[in-house]
This record gives sequence, structure tokens and C-alpha cells, in this order.
Amino acid sequence: AGPLRVALLGHGTVGAETARALTGRAAELSARIGAPVELAGIAVRRPRTLPGIDGSLVTTDAHALVSRGDIDVVVELIGGMEPARSLITTAMETGASVVTANKALIASEGVDLHHIARKQGVGLAYEAAVAGAVPVLRPLRQSLAGDRIQRVTGIVNGTTNFILDRMTRSGGTFQGALHEAQRLGYAEADPTGDVSGADAAAKMAILARLAFDTELPIERVQFEGITHIGPGDIAHAEAGGYVIKLVGTCDRTPDGVNARVHPMLIPLEHPLAGVRGADNGILVEARAAGELMFHGAGAGGLATSSAVLGDLVELCRDRVAGPGTAPAEFSQVLPLRPLAQVAGR
Ligand code: HSE
Repeated sequence: AGPLRVALLGHGTVGAETARALTGRAAELSARIGAPVELAGIAVRRPRTLPGIDGSLVTTDAHALVSRGDIDVVVELIGGMEPARSLITTAMETGASVVTANKALIASEGVDLHHIARKQGVGLAYEAAVAGAVPVLRPLRQSLAGDRIQRVTGIVNGTTNFILDRMTRSGGTFQGALHEAQRLGYAEADPTGDVSGADAAAKMAILARLAFDTELPIERVQFEGITHIGPGDIAHAEAGGYVIKLVGTCDRTPDGVNARVHPMLIPLEHPLAGVRGADNGILVEARAAGELMFHGAGAGGLATSSAVLGDLVELCRDRVAGPGTAPAEFSQVLPLRPLAQVAGR
């Protein structure tokens, strides 16, 4: 049958790290999948040479790449609505499974895209769309599927958390901290959505959908950003024993699901108060499980590529062995260390 072929769309912050892993760690990823996997093509906006990538794999014609017919998984890391939506749709209609980190697209079109995936019998996965490296969508959709989730509260935008953290701890200015977040690859290409709360609202729509099994439209998530927060607000909060965080909440109320994003005063002893820098933290309250806290790197190329590659491995396994099938045996990616050496430490 030949190796599993992966097409990568986009070579930005996350795309570059994903490409690096697919070329440099192909053998390791193949072992985890249980079948050989290879990078079959990478689409970029403008023609250019990419470090470490065979030039014959690079194209500016993303549409031709996804319609080729021999691609197993398309990894969409372009972001935004178009052309991402058309490319993903074409890919699925051509029989490819899709991994995407596109929160805006999944928040507004996710329900339709799931219908297409089901109709075509292909996979669609987007763990990287919410909270970067932090695994939270899969736990909501799978591990907690038998529980009853009451509320999800989260810091789901790394850029704004980084800015507020800098303003709180080192007295940095809003603009200075934003530039630093851009330099470190946390912010979106256009950071307006980060600071306005729109990026966090898209992520809360996705979380609410999975937590409550409801087709929550993105328009129903009210949001407010952090652009109006100044040093005075931060000092005032600190004096009272609080820290200001941009927090998204969705909860089950007697009248239905409610989701919103806005700056909040968080008491210093609350678990979300300890979420630093560009980290994300998501607190899930479920009837049987109680409180579960998911915490870790919420933005950045390398960290986010972890979630992208996890989805890629899962969808590749599905194509090799059928959905949900655990690998038949462990692949021995790592050799075992002799016992005597362990004992002698
Ligand atoms: N710009 C986003 C953030 C990237 O800062 O959280 C991760 O989705």
C-alpha cells in the first residue's frame, strides 16, 4: 500500500515545527503509527526554499496538493476562513483525513465539517485549536463522555495571559508585552483577535460544544478583551489580593448553555491565578469526576506542534487499523535500559 502520505498546508510558526518533525522524526512517528509515514508535499503562500525540506515537495498550489488523490492526511495550518475551509472540504471529499489548528474555522464551521467527515468516512481532529499543547478536547470528548460536565472555566489565550502577566509582575507596558508575545510566536499574525477576546471566544465555543454536546454557534459567545486594562487596574486588583486574567466560562444553567469571555479578578489562591506567561489553564467541573485542571503551554510553535502531531498519529493509526484501534503492540521506539544500570544510579 506504500507509506501514509501527509500534505502540510502552511509553514508559519506551527507549520515549520510540524514540518521539522515530519522530516527529522519520520522513523519515530512511523513506529508510533505502526506504518511508514512521509511528508508528501507542503503548500506555502509565496515560492521560497524551506530549511531542511526537499524543494520538490514545496508548492504554492495548495488546491492541487489536496486534490491529488494520493494524500492520506492533510494538516491545515494556514488559519482563517478562506482558503482554509475550501481546502479542508476538498481534502475530505478527495478521501483524506484532516488535522487542523484552526480555531476560528472550527468554531464557526465545525458542525458542517464534522458532517462532511462522517459522510466521507474520514477523520477530522483539532486538538491544537484549543490551548496549544494542553490535551483538553480529547479528554472532554472521550474520557469524560460518561460524566455530566457542569462548567468549564479557562484561560485559553496565551498572548493575553502573557501580556497581563508581564504587566502584573514586571510592570511592563501593554504594547511592549504584545511585541514580545509576537516575537515569541504566541500571537496570531494579526493580534487583534487575541487582545479583543475573539480568539478566546472561538476556543470557548469549541470547548462548550464538546463539554455539553451542543451545536453552540460562535455568535452566542459574548466577549470582551483586555485593551482597556491599565496599570491602575492591575495595582487595584493586587491590593485586594487578586490578579486580572482573561477568562472564558461556559456553564450549564437551568435555561441552557451560556458561554462568555471577559477579564476577571481571580483570587490569588485560585488554580487559574497560577497560570503564568503564555500558559493556558482549563478547569473542568464534572458531576462525578469533580474538579479537573488542565494546565500547560497554550501557544508557541513547538508546543502546539505536539498537539498537531498527536492528532496526526491518531488519524494515521485509524487509517491503518480502523478507528479507535489501539496499536496491537508497543513499537519499542526506545530500547530498554539494562536493570543493573538503573539499580546503580
Ligand atoms: N494566538 C493564540 C494564543 C495562539 O495566544 O493563545 C494559540 O491558539
